[in-house]
Amino acid sequence: MKATVKSPANIAFIKYWGRLDHDIYLPLSTTNSMNLSECYATTTIEFHDSFQQDSVTILDQNDKENEIDLTKGHKNIMLKKTLDRVREKSEVDLNAKIVSKLSFPLGTGIASSAAGLSAFVVAAYEAVDCSSVSQDPQELSREVRLSGSPSAARSVMDGFTELLFGETHETSYVREIADENHWDIYDITVVVNSAEKKISSSQGHEGASSSPFYNARIEYLKGIPEKVRTAILDKDFSTLAKFSQADAINMHGVMMTQDPAAIYFNAGSFEVITKVLELQDQGMEVFFTFDAGANPHLIVTEKDKKALIDIINSLNLVEFYIENKPAKGTQIIDSHLF
Ligand code: DP6
Repeated sequence: MKATVKSPANIAFIKYWGRLDHDIYLPLSTTNSMNLSECYATTTIEFHDSFQQDSVTILDQNDKENEIDLTKGHKNIMLKKTLDRVREKSEVDLNAKIVSKLSFPLGTGIASSAAGLSAFVVAAYEAVDCSSVSQDPQELSREVRLSGSPSAARSVMDGFTELLFGETHETSYVREIADENHWDIYDITVVVNSAEKKISSSQGHEGASSSPFYNARIEYLKGIPEKVRTAILDKDFSTLAKFSQADAINMHGVMMTQDPAAIYFNAGSFEVITKVLELQDQGMEVFFTFDAGANPHLIVTEKDKKALIDIINSLNLVEFYIENKPAKGTQIIDSHLF
């Protein structure tokens, strides 16, 4: 009972911040994103009667092992809960060994949970051969959402995807907007802060409703995910740029005004923002967006990619960057990590 899965991180154009329901992880609105080709997790899971307990090991770039304590920290406790759910649904009562490796440096402030969690959940259902879930991508996306990360659910399908707003577990699932070959746009993930963020997303989502702008955000979002979906389908860069950049600013407005305030930007973030605004004025097809962190993601067309990278490289506070194109979603692969 063993399976290995490769799954990408993704960058949201319309963001998930705050929840309608904290127990079943229902996002407040439809959110959409693009999978990232160079930021992915590879995860092997085996269920076996020789394992005395569940174990999770994360390998860094040099294959150094980091053991995860499944009894501490919200995300880790959710991993344990997810394993229990997989066992319950599949009636496989065995402990699991999990090894996961990221394609990008660990703990550098690049969101890893979307890649890691989507790989973890899909590999688990594949390993126990629970076909009612593993053969149904929509159901897999619900299970990934329920594992604690609606943003990770978007990685289950190919290319450009959206997680639908729904008021119940059944109605909030992922569907594909267009596959990875649809549009040659790029995400340049710019690292300006490689430290772990101080406020986890999970804490942040719980505090979102304390912002005086929270309800305004829900109102403002009405109809916008649909406009972004159409912009993706039409390959309409300027409409995508307009709504996506505005949404990142809007989300960070809520973050900064919630209690306690979640301020993720640093000086490097603003160095990049200022430069991108200048480049936009000069007619470059580029826009910025941010997750819950300081590191900007710059979305750019093929024609302006090289010029943009040269400029980003010349900025003072930029540590390094990763160039991504749209990628396939979660895939089952043959090469196990153990
Ligand atoms: C701000 O709790 O899903 O990135 O930050 O990776 O732990 P991690 O994930 P999650 O919330 C992050 C949401 C967001 C916006 C988005 O991706 O939709």
